[in-house]
Amino acid sequence: MLVTNLWAIANSGKDDSEATINPIEPMVSSIDTPKSANLKPGIKAPVKETLLTPRFYTTNFDAVAEMDLSGQQQELEAALAELRADYNRYHFVRNEEFEQCWEHIDGETRSAFIEFLERSCTSEFSGFLLFKELSRKLKDRQPLLAEAFSLLARDEARHAGFLNKAMADFGLSLDLSYLTKNRTYTFFPPEWVIYTVYLSEKIGYWRYILMYRHLEKHPEYRIYPLFRYFENWCQDENRHGDFFKVLLRSQPKLWNNWKSRLWSRFFLLSVFATHTLTVLERTNFYESVGIDPRDYNRQVIAKTNETAARAFPSILDTDRPEFFQRLEKCAVANQKLAEIANNNRPKAIQFFQKLPWIAVILWQLLRLYLLKGIDTEDSRGTVY
Ligand SMILES: [Fe+2]
Ligand SMILES: [Fe+2]
Repeated sequence: MLVTNLWAIANSGKDDSEATINPIEPMVSSIDTPKSANLKPGIKAPVKETLLTPRFYTTNFDAVAEMDLSGQQQELEAALAELRADYNRYHFVRNEEFEQCWEHIDGETRSAFIEFLERSCTSEFSGFLLFKELSRKLKDRQPLLAEAFSLLARDEARHAGFLNKAMADFGLSLDLSYLTKNRTYTFFPPEWVIYTVYLSEKIGYWRYILMYRHLEKHPEYRIYPLFRYFENWCQDENRHGDFFKVLLRSQPKLWNNWKSRLWSRFFLLSVFATHTLTVLERTNFYESVGIDPRDYNRQVIAKTNETAARAFPSILDTDRPEFFQRLEKCAVANQKLAEIANNNRPKAIQFFQKLPWIAVILWQLLRLYLLKGIDTEDSRGTVY
């Protein structure tokens, strides 16, 4: 079982990085060559990498090991206790509802759904790799953090494994070992990791719970049983986010100065812009499950922004009418860029065709960034 294998890796104390790769190979047939054209039947070629593709991260592990967490020691222990409780230990077990043929999901809905599974699986797996690596590197220097990261890796391994099994229902599997070896890892300093992982966990929570609630009200759109698992699943993401909130609050420089306010709004805007572009590029998937993509995007962003007020010193003012209008203009420009990328013209011509649309995106993002934010520290009362 993939979940078991990934969990075994999460618990392995081996120190060479190959150890993180090999145990999953039997589960997801390995690929000998990086060329996706040579993929074996049933193995899904990873989506073409763009700025919007879920990314893989690495960080300065020594700096994390040296972090002083004493300001939030109690909160940290409470967050760790929540992770140890392992509320979803028995949740990710496939029920009999999965045991049927899924050929009736076809055409555009099928490919949109597979892409949704793939993106979700990749981002869960990306979380697993980062947490697992943090856990290994901190084992002897920050045992409390190391344990917490190992438990986070346990959850993400379950999530990625469950999604990969869902892909298998559609005759495909993501080659996770191939992804591990061939993806480029983006370096983020620990401060950026804390801001972005906090946000991605919280936005993940809202994405899953809003979809779950919608399908509770409209079961006729529940085209596949995976969605039933989202309610407990998103609680994992919520706990992960809470753990990162404690990390963030333990580092005063991440919230008590003007720079931290600028960084907070910068990361909120980056995550929201990426979400908008991703959702509005895939309207057919959301429509196939009866969701209005624009509405969904707006709700996810507004809720995540509101939640971030508990951790960040400054958030964005999503109530301004221009806020979503500008984000959606970016999505239109992004679609133009995608059309140009597929028009088979020479690269040099494509480059000049793209320039005005890139300028639109940058201009809208700049305008959004310059909007007055909402300060959250003054209204916080007591620091937590
Ligand atoms: Fe997850
Ligand atoms: Fe998570």
